[in-house]
Amino acid sequence: MIKISLLGSTGRMGQSILSLVSSDKEVVCSGAYCRSTSPFLHKIAYQDSSLKISFSDQLEEVLQDSDVCIDFSLQDSVTDHLDCIVKTNIPYVIGVTGINSEQLLLLNKASKHIPIFYDQNMSVGMNQFKNLIEQSARNFPPETRVTIHDVHHVNKLDAPSGTAISISELLSIYQKNIEISSERVGDVIGRHIVTFHGEKEDLIFTHDAKSRDVFALGAIEAAKWITKKESGFFNMKDLILDKA
Ligand SMILES: NC(=O)c1ccc[n+]([C@@H]2O[C@H](COP(=O)([O-])OP(=O)(O)OC[C@H]3O[C@@H](n4cnc5c(N)ncnc54)[C@H](OP(=O)(O)O)[C@@H]3O)[C@@H](O)[C@H]2O)c1
Repeated sequence: MIKISLLGSTGRMGQSILSLVSSDKEVVCSGAYCRSTSPFLHKIAYQDSSLKISFSDQLEEVLQDSDVCIDFSLQDSVTDHLDCIVKTNIPYVIGVTGINSEQLLLLNKASKHIPIFYDQNMSVGMNQFKNLIEQSARNFPPETRVTIHDVHHVNKLDAPSGTAISISELLSIYQKNIEISSERVGDVIGRHIVTFHGEKEDLIFTHDAKSRDVFALGAIEAAKWITKKESGFFNMKDLILDKA
């Protein structure tokens, strides 16, 4: 049984992960962190026949009895969390988006000591989506106009989305004329539309996440997978390739 501690446990993603952990026989929740200001503090986060876990604002205690930590908090907090996770010496799965280059450098450095799994989109379908658009990017002339449009709920803080940025990085290997735009509307979970604007026809790809569970399931799979690693920096592509 793999013991997972969860940071960002009170948020939309955190709640989805807690609910999926409850129905997965291979994992349990061993700690759920929230800030001292959170209305969830000390309330029950997770319960099974032999375990009752409350939301806690004591980060070290939350981490201490776990095999792996999943973090779906917000960008600002990742650096603080990292220090404590390195001290605890457990694998770290990060789904937080908007991580800056300075933080990425710190994560890379820490991955020499602990395994770190970081992906701005934990959906397996998004990985297939990226394979398809990469194939098209190779086939279209390099000066083709390519647009990436991301649509998310109004509470999403970063724009463009981390996924849109990673799609742009991937396409820029083959294409020179890439535009990104973002839209924040209603409760859209995550939609990415990539269009190759040809001279006489357009090729349009859409990935639409219908539930947060797709990201939560990916994160739980990543947590199971990364516990077998000693150290290193990994993402969804590594996991999928390894399992193929
Ligand atoms: N990689 C992926 O596949 C994927 C998919 C969806 C979303 N995301 C990303 O995941 C993150 C969370 O998304 P969400 O929709 O769940 O957000 P959310 O509902 O706003 O939840 C944010 C969580 O972070 C905690 N938090 C906020 N500030 C914090 C701080 N300074 N220190 C510690 N904890 C803090 C909040 O806890 P309190 O109760 O303490 O306020 C809350 O639990 C975002 O970056 C989002 O873009 C990634």
